[in-house]
Amino acid sequence: MDIHKLLSSLTIEEKIGQLMQLAPFFFIEDIDVKVFGEVTALNLNKEKVFHSGSVLGINSAEQMIQIQKKYLKESRHKIPLVFMADIIHGYKTIFPVPIAMAASWNPELAFQAAKIQAKESRVSGVQVTFSPMVDVSRDPRWGRVVEGFGEDPYLSSAFSKCIVQGYQGNDVKQEDQVACCVKHFAAYGASEAGRDYNTVDVSNYSLFNTYLPSYKAAVDAGVKLVMTSFNTIDSIPATVNRFLLKDVLRDKWGFDGVVISDYDSLHQVVAHGVAKDDKEAALRGLDAGLDIEMQSTCYTNHLKDLLDENQIDEKQIDQAVYRILKLKEDLGLFEDPYRGAHPEKEAEIIFAKEHLDVAEKFAEESIVLLKNEDVLPLSKKLKYCILGPYAETIRTNGAWAGHGDNNLNTKLAEQLKDKHINVDFVKASLLPDYSQEELLRIKEADQIILALGENEYEAGEAHSKVDLHLPRGQQQFFDFAKSLNKKIIILLYHGRPFVLTPLIEADAILDVFYLGSKAHEAIANVLSGKTNPSGKLPMSYPRHGGQVPIYYNHLSTGRPHKRGVYGEYDSHYLDEENEALFPFGFGLSYANFEYANLTISNEQMYINDVIDISVDVKNVSQTPGFEIVEFYINDVHSYYARPVKELKGFKKVWINPQEIKTVTFQISKNDLSYYDPKGDTLLESGIFELMIGSSSEDVLSTSIEFFKGGKS
Ligand code: BGC
Repeated sequence: MDIHKLLSSLTIEEKIGQLMQLAPFFFIEDIDVKVFGEVTALNLNKEKVFHSGSVLGINSAEQMIQIQKKYLKESRHKIPLVFMADIIHGYKTIFPVPIAMAASWNPELAFQAAKIQAKESRVSGVQVTFSPMVDVSRDPRWGRVVEGFGEDPYLSSAFSKCIVQGYQGNDVKQEDQVACCVKHFAAYGASEAGRDYNTVDVSNYSLFNTYLPSYKAAVDAGVKLVMTSFNTIDSIPATVNRFLLKDVLRDKWGFDGVVISDYDSLHQVVAHGVAKDDKEAALRGLDAGLDIEMQSTCYTNHLKDLLDENQIDEKQIDQAVYRILKLKEDLGLFEDPYRGAHPEKEAEIIFAKEHLDVAEKFAEESIVLLKNEDVLPLSKKLKYCILGPYAETIRTNGAWAGHGDNNLNTKLAEQLKDKHINVDFVKASLLPDYSQEELLRIKEADQIILALGENEYEAGEAHSKVDLHLPRGQQQFFDFAKSLNKKIIILLYHGRPFVLTPLIEADAILDVFYLGSKAHEAIANVLSGKTNPSGKLPMSYPRHGGQVPIYYNHLSTGRPHKRGVYGEYDSHYLDEENEALFPFGFGLSYANFEYANLTISNEQMYINDVIDISVDVKNVSQTPGFEIVEFYINDVHSYYARPVKELKGFKKVWINPQEIKTVTFQISKNDLSYYDPKGDTLLESGIFELMIGSSSEDVLSTSIEFFKGGKS
């Protein structure tokens, strides 16, 4: 397809149409007859709808084919629509929510999951997915932390890259790949006070060092689209932010794919107060380099007038249209507008056994054991009861799993019984109000499993909270179980870090997030000891809500506090410790690992050297298992203050009982560099502390001296 030729044959209305994305409704219904409510304000008619370039959300191959057929019939040039949808952590086979994926510290599994999502959704008519969401966030009040990979730029970037590669493969023309869209550009996770859609006010230094690397990782991996965020950056909404979209994304990073707004976010710049109306919004959007507006009509209704008034140049429109047509070409849609969509194959591909196997493995690896006083694994000799609001839940899919079906998921008790665990009594209730008979049954149990947390709708878009404790009086379950003097095992179903301080006396706490289609198979595997838990936290869990935002990779201060040492005028709270209750990178295993012999290949490093740093990790238990070995650095002295610790590598290694594994990381100059506030790379000579350990707070350390000039 000669895209330039096609482009030059389009009328201005046809070009502008390509820049609008609408929901399937508009194509299925006769909107000239059936227009109501908010839809009226879009000021659309059939002609405009049938000029539009893409569709938001699709439910099946059949629906996609129906819309594409109808559209192509109306379209003069037969330019196919491109179908986009939110396939975030599974199409029908649902994988753990992204925050849980991150807890696996296994991006290779995320790669496999993305491949499966691509396969299941492409056969069902989806060609582009709005994923990965890589908004780094340090604020668990923000409900969307469930959709991202946590507080750390390095860990988030590792997932970002693998997921893009999994969705897109080497060629999105392939019938089992989709193009993907990294979001929400940029720094959406820094919403002030954790309130969704709120202002973001971060320095350029933080932007480049903390928030941008995970989007850049996706761009470097070849992501085809970038979605702008709802927030402002330096007081300009991201959707019309020239600095972000032109200077950084296109010029600095060389991104040549499609930039799409978030839902209605071009129109919303009027509410931000930076455009007086949709027309000015359109002007600012085009000027900033926004290609597609999702579900608003600023471009459609105003670009032509702006052009006639010479406020914009047709070349600007052409550039945006070119990128959209190029995406369609890349997806193979000009050759076959239905490419990949096969209603007859949907049933065979979706929910395939091998997909569910990956879902189960991923779920197992995402579980984090936070505490265990010798009560886990469960014993076949004891009697258990399961109580709490989620005791019988099957709703383990979590937010953004719209095509999935919770009804296909299993209950925990069934799975435990399959493993010959004696679950004698199960009762799901909102509060611990039990009848006499139920009380007797509970008392007969040796130990109590409490299924607590928040429901799947509580974490996600527009679901911010000020209180990070267990909601709706669930603490009463813990107090009740305690009053019976029994061992308590807590399972935590949730999508954001909680304040677990009031539960800290539980005998075990197992973090089970929302683990998807195979959640309870995986949880039962871990509880019964069939699988040794290996996940580690991708976000710090605060002791108190007042510590938020709390994250391990903070800067030092001029008056740093030393844990356990009183300093009246150092940086501390009067009424709480500074440290997290469960730090970033923390997670237990049924095995015990000891770290020793931290060794570096050279204490001095010159600019092109690659230095090895290694550690011996010994499994000193009788249980084999995975250990996630974490590598951090601290740039001790530099022009700009650097974090006290930054993750620079991790490896997940299997270690048999009594075995010692030597784990090695390589350091090159890239690991020692950072960004200045202009986004340019800085590399400085000096001492770097190097740390390897089992969590961000449990490390062995050594140091090297780096020379920027000199030898080699
Ligand atoms: C969300 C995006 C999503 C889009 C389309 C928005 O409200 O912020 O993450 O991709 O809707 O569904």
